[in-house]
Amino acid sequence: MTTIAVLGAGKIGEALLSGLLQGGRPADELVFTEKHPERSAALSERYGVKGVDVASAAQLADVLVVAVKPQDIEPLLDELAPVLRPGALIVSLCAGLPTSLYERRLPEGTPVVRVMPNTPMLVGEAMSAISAGRFAGSGHLDLVEELLGTVGKVARVPENQQDAVTALSGSGPAYFFFLVEAMIDAGILLGIPRELAATLIIQSAVGAAQMLNQGDQHPVILREAVTSPAGTTIMAIRELERHGVRAALLAAIEAARDRSVELGQAHEAE
Ligand SMILES: NC(=O)c1ccc[n+]([C@@H]2O[C@H](COP(=O)([O-])OP(=O)(O)OC[C@H]3O[C@@H](n4cnc5c(N)ncnc54)[C@H](OP(=O)(O)O)[C@@H]3O)[C@@H](O)[C@H]2O)c1
Repeated sequence: MTTIAVLGAGKIGEALLSGLLQGGRPADELVFTEKHPERSAALSERYGVKGVDVASAAQLADVLVVAVKPQDIEPLLDELAPVLRPGALIVSLCAGLPTSLYERRLPEGTPVVRVMPNTPMLVGEAMSAISAGRFAGSGHLDLVEELLGTVGKVARVPENQQDAVTALSGSGPAYFFFLVEAMIDAGILLGIPRELAATLIIQSAVGAAQMLNQGDQHPVILREAVTSPAGTTIMAIRELERHGVRAALLAAIEAARDRSVELGQAHEAE
């Protein structure tokens, strides 16, 4: 039996609790910590999982999943360091926080796995990238992969690729939301009512995502299959290329990677 504590049951923490329960993990193998007593009570009622304080979580849990905002990490580490059990695994979901931060602040030899999840965890379709810290081995990665596998897909990456991953899949859902929003506006421009435009575009996005996910065909092949000679799609593609959409995406994702590096440096320097 592996007891898991989720430290900070906000949006991501709650999504993980819910996914673990749906994946068949018994409620009595889970605990969580949460600052607001009303939210703690509501979560306990909704999921049948116990809300505890950090010291009790450290006593009970073999795996502690840190899901507070990165700016709240310092007080949490102060609380955790004196009570952490030897050998307990720390799983950090906090964007931009390096494993070395935990290794410096927690007892010597504490295994840490860093995760970059994304918000589709809320619907069980997360993309999570995991990296082992200095003291985490393949057994720790296997365990984290199994846990996060209940709320989506998991990839293993070296920690030095986490900034790129943050820019690709961490922020990735926002790029799709942005595209969908712009395409709905295009529907408005063409005189389609907003609700209908939204249905047309969102279902097209869902269908396209499923084709990408289920088939083994490259996106170029799928796109070419709907781009007939002198047809409508090629006219749209020409405009996308003319407006530099491909170059804009490359530059945008590079800028996101650079910002992630910048945010991480604040913690490396401490
Ligand atoms: N949401 C995303 O898109 C996303 C994607 C990838 C990674 N992440 C990472 O996931 C983490 C959580 O994000 P979120 O969006 O779920 O944030 P959130 O909704 O603000 O959840 C964090 C929760 O932890 C609570 N908390 C803070 N300090 C605590 C402590 N010492 N003990 C117990 N609970 C504490 C917060 O309470 P208060 O509200 O009172 O502070 C809040 O309820 C972040 O580190 C973020 O970088 C998020």
